[in-house]
Amino acid sequence: MSTTPLKVAVTGAAGQIGYSLLFRLASGALGDRPIQLQLLEIEPALKALEGVVMELDDCAFPLLAGVEIGADPTKIFDGVNLALLVGARPRGPGMERGDLLSANGAIFTAQGKALNEVAADDVRVGVTGNPANTNALIAMTNAPDIPQNRFSALTRLDHNRALSQLAAKTGASVNDITRMTIWGNHSATQYPDLFHAEIAGRNAAEVVNDQAWVEDYFIPTVAKRGAAIIDARGASSAASAASATCNAARDWLNGTPEGDWVSMAVVSDGSYGVPEGLISSFPVTTKDGDWSIVQGLEISEFSRGRIDASVAELADEKAAVTELGLI
Ligand code: NAD
Ligand code: LMR
Repeated sequence: MSTTPLKVAVTGAAGQIGYSLLFRLASGALGDRPIQLQLLEIEPALKALEGVVMELDDCAFPLLAGVEIGADPTKIFDGVNLALLVGARPRGPGMERGDLLSANGAIFTAQGKALNEVAADDVRVGVTGNPANTNALIAMTNAPDIPQNRFSALTRLDHNRALSQLAAKTGASVNDITRMTIWGNHSATQYPDLFHAEIAGRNAAEVVNDQAWVEDYFIPTVAKRGAAIIDARGASSAASAASATCNAARDWLNGTPEGDWVSMAVVSDGSYGVPEGLISSFPVTTKDGDWSIVQGLEISEFSRGRIDASVAELADEKAAVTELGLI
């Protein structure tokens, strides 16, 4: 284990997710390696961020090697090994995440360019800010010198939601569930797929044995959970989003367990009929900081239709940001 601190950038660090994420990162969510936090905010939020940094200091985290804050991405991203791009406007009640494209897309052109210029050679970039898949596409396209497989968008929260719903239905522990998959977009069209999932080694769909529950409860509950939280809390998910951001980064850097996989939105190589170049969620395994799409899964007609619908939405979002001149 290296004792050189991992340099981790977090954008939108004074926001809701930031207020949970920074403390998780500093207390060891990525492992035992010391970390240096590089926190980006817009100018008006820097004072609030100074307060958050005082709180980080007051925790005396043994793994926290240092904190730098600022509003210039070329300074904050300098030499970072991991960039967690969270800073973006959240949606409000009645909105879809795609409605945020014009408000948030430009953030990711500027940040992609800055990462391209100053990030470390081994940088990994995880996008949480919505609409996450297409924002990751924007950042990736604006960072032509960074390999495309270093970008991913967060669908781990959807993955975790799916684990939790399946555990509640079957009485299993989330620890016994493996091979869950979220396909497509982090949006209401996403397809949470339990047909390849296993519960203590048994096929999850067979254990559930209730197609109506899968179609009418499981899929819509997972896909619309973000909106349900906004309705209930009056603000979008924050602690669970921070937790999923940590899970995704930890597994990307440290690897997935033997025999299991996770969901990550990554650039398509054409696998499972997803057009090359779209950032779509797939089942992936990770090893030594790289991911691979799990190959060879049988896709039923039921699953095919749902994957295709979500991928069509990603293609529409790509067309919209092309039209906006963002890629
Ligand atoms: P928030 O409004 O509380 O915080 C966002 C922060 O980003 C603010 O402090 C703002 O000042 C900052 N910001 C805005 N533009 C910036 C820029 N150019 N550079 C740096 N910082 C900038 O929002 P939040 O609740 O923390 O959510 C952040 C984003 O994450 C939203 O887009 C939300 O929809 C998204 N989200 C995604 C998931 C997911 O699973 N992918 C889950 C939850 C939330
Ligand atoms: C979520 O899934 O909770 C986030 O993407 C926030 C949202 O807008 O739903």
